[in-house]
Amino acid sequence: MPPHAGGRQGGQRVKLLVTGGAGYIGSIVTRMLLDAGHEVVVLDDLRTGHRVALAPDAEFVHGQVHDAARVLTPDAGFDGVLHFAALIAAGESMVRPELYWANNTVGSLALLDAVRAAGVPRMVFSSTAAVYGNPVELPIRETAVTAPTNPYGSTKLAVDLALTSESTAHGLAAVSLRYFNVAGAYLRDGVALGERHDPETHLIPIALEVAAGRREKLQIFGDDYPTSDGTCIRDYIHVEDLARAHLLALDAATPGEHRVFNLGNGSGFTNRQVVDVVREVTGHPLPVETAPRREGDPAALVASADLARTELGWTPAKPTLTDMVTDAWDFYRTQILERP
Ligand SMILES: NC(=O)c1ccc[n+]([C@@H]2O[C@H](COP(=O)([O-])OP(=O)(O)OC[C@H]3O[C@@H](n4cnc5c(N)ncnc54)[C@H](O)[C@@H]3O)[C@@H](O)[C@H]2O)c1
Repeated sequence: MPPHAGGRQGGQRVKLLVTGGAGYIGSIVTRMLLDAGHEVVVLDDLRTGHRVALAPDAEFVHGQVHDAARVLTPDAGFDGVLHFAALIAAGESMVRPELYWANNTVGSLALLDAVRAAGVPRMVFSSTAAVYGNPVELPIRETAVTAPTNPYGSTKLAVDLALTSESTAHGLAAVSLRYFNVAGAYLRDGVALGERHDPETHLIPIALEVAAGRREKLQIFGDDYPTSDGTCIRDYIHVEDLARAHLLALDAATPGEHRVFNLGNGSGFTNRQVVDVVREVTGHPLPVETAPRREGDPAALVASADLARTELGWTPAKPTLTDMVTDAWDFYRTQILERP
């Protein structure tokens, strides 16, 4: 029998390991997995995660993915791993690439060894639009050339490639989800989970810091791109929609296959359009300063999520920027500003 044989039938309660479950996206997926009735163990070393984001009804193991074998023992009965743990700042990866290779790639390979040794049948991996680099064609399909322009994207692509060979050689049911820009928050039933990156590198939360008076102004990098207003175009996806795709991906994982899906809205917004929506939602004038282009920033990154729609049956429920910014602002006001 191949190492990753077995696994559950669709819909039943299973035991899952979530790496990075104290982080932004991992904590929200953990909440949804628990709500769907699954048993969840979170493995996180809290290097960028937060205790406050840990689900009280999940078991928490404080440790590194590099030591995942301590948790993923052959008799622990795990049915799948959702692997979010990573360092995520593309800019930092340009100056400290060694950190990114050691954490994102070496850590993932150790996790994969543990998954194989324990005979865990399924794995869902957080990949990224950064694996594509400068797109040749828009919208970006999963078949597009992968040519990352920063070490962060390279470390993620390396894991994607390792998953392909793992599934071919050893029968793992693997899914890579390539996220575009994730925004918004999870706010329901008294649970509030959202973005707490420090320092913040994403446009929407930075704009919210300006709206909250914690930053003087917002910088937009480059206004001479070939776009309608000269600023870069990015594709945004609500974190709740993104999280839901993980549950669908678990069900769609197929032994011996590595399936890859882009997750975005299929339409992009310029940086200035994003700023306008943040102004509308927060009522703050949001002073903006135009700075020079950043090296390696493509003019436009827009996903084709057709494959996720047709093969996973995934449809974004909160596709508008107003949805995303409103939820992100509610989270920021209630969880960060009002609870210092
Ligand atoms: N946020 C985005 O817009 C975005 C876009 C594309 C892809 N992604 C990917 O999604 C995943 C989650 O991103 P996020 O925004 O939630 O980041 P995050 O920083 O909020 O969460 C990452 C979590 O992983 C943990 N972690 C990191 N290295 C670890 C290690 N070696 N061992 C144990 N725990 C470790 C951190 O403590 C943190 O809790 C990442 O893999 C990232 O590359 C995110």
